[in-house]
Amino acid sequence: MDSYIPHNVLDTVVIDVKGQQFGKFEDPVAKERWLISTERSAAVDAIRKTASYMRTSNLPVGFPTETVYGLGADATRSDAVRGIYKAKGRPSDNPLIIHISDLSMLRDLLLPEKVNGNLSHDPIPEIYLPLINRFWPGPLTILLRNPPGSKLAPEVTAGLETFGVRMPNSELALSLISLAGVPLAAPSANASTKPSPTTAEHVLHDLRGRIETILDGGPCQVGVESTVVDGLCDPPVVLRPGGLSLDEIRQVPGWERTVKAYKDESELGSAAPRAPGMKYKHYSPKAKVILYESCAEVNGKQILEQLTIDVRVPTIGLIHTSEQDWPRCAGWDLGIVRSKNDDVVRVDEAEIVAMERELYDSSDKLRANLLDIKLGSGSKAVAHGLFSALRALDLRDADIILVEGIPDDGEIAAAVMNRLRKAATEIRKTK
Ligand code: TXA
Ligand code: MG
Repeated sequence: MDSYIPHNVLDTVVIDVKGQQFGKFEDPVAKERWLISTERSAAVDAIRKTASYMRTSNLPVGFPTETVYGLGADATRSDAVRGIYKAKGRPSDNPLIIHISDLSMLRDLLLPEKVNGNLSHDPIPEIYLPLINRFWPGPLTILLRNPPGSKLAPEVTAGLETFGVRMPNSELALSLISLAGVPLAAPSANASTKPSPTTAEHVLHDLRGRIETILDGGPCQVGVESTVVDGLCDPPVVLRPGGLSLDEIRQVPGWERTVKAYKDESELGSAAPRAPGMKYKHYSPKAKVILYESCAEVNGKQILEQLTIDVRVPTIGLIHTSEQDWPRCAGWDLGIVRSKNDDVVRVDEAEIVAMERELYDSSDKLRANLLDIKLGSGSKAVAHGLFSALRALDLRDADIILVEGIPDDGEIAAAVMNRLRKAATEIRKTK
């Protein structure tokens, strides 16, 4: 791993650039050129200044996309790309996603042949054109061959012959990239192993002192990373589930036979309960996370007994995704669940709310504090709040987090369950 920038070496400034109109496509169908708004505003000036900083600085910048916050740097300069790995504390053998503002930037990267100043053919492989047409800008990353003599820094591709690229659906991000005038390499802006950040606050929490600039565009809409697809092989494959579902991809001509080429923890034979520390940690809060798949039974009594061995009055985080009153379903009939507040408490800028409750036993002794987060109904709502909820429970020092899984089908449920299985210390299934 590259040397790691410790906390509190740099002054980190969060710049508020929320809720503005920053630009638009010259032609929204062609997506060939992104134009910056000609109206002067403090926000556009701030983005302009940040873009110019990125052209020379070797420190990456935190910025929002529609999926999660990215930690961006000039993808054409090795020193700048290395700065990402240093700030994140991430091993540099992982390829990074390239972010472009428009298709002309992508075509330039592919170093197309020109005859009399005109393209001899479109350098973007035909298979991708209908997909780009339908889903860009959006939460979709495609793999392309890195041409000989590529402008991309070798650190971006981690030695692979391909690179991953996407056009984010965020005016702010598109304007930043366009003003920088270079594609930006950007992984999620969390410290390595932590849940991906969906607010500027999350980025500040993880990277304060390690970077100088965070652009705050408010909470991300989607909440999980982009779907990564490879259309250079036959049949095309999904390499990482994300904000765009397999069903949506299969509706596109040429992509009907797309298959998934990733394996989830539950398919790797890692039947729960797994030994803590054995797994590759990812998307993980500090607390132990137990994931209950498809209505697996929650043995609340057992959980409480384990916890009270080393923590006096433990705090139990609950993340639930259905209408059920989960604490009661957990079989905590040994105790009485009482609300601490009549109102829910807001725990996060992304509007995550929790019910604070207390669990008593039959002799009226306080056994646990409960922080109960409901993520709304439908996989989109769950995706939107998931990483925020894990972080919010961490900030409140939950000793253990119990998560109710969702059925692994449709919309972006596959991405949600994929991230949860990676975050979980234990996965419990229905027998
Ligand atoms: O939504 C997103 O995709 C976010 C935002 C910031 O845009 N970015 C993101 O980047 O999640 P990152 O670096 O955390 O994810 C990179 C992942 C790799 O782990 C790998 O799965 C895939 O993208 N990837 C990138 N380039 C690849 C390549 N050449 N071949 C195979 N997979 C690649
Ligand atoms: Mg990431």
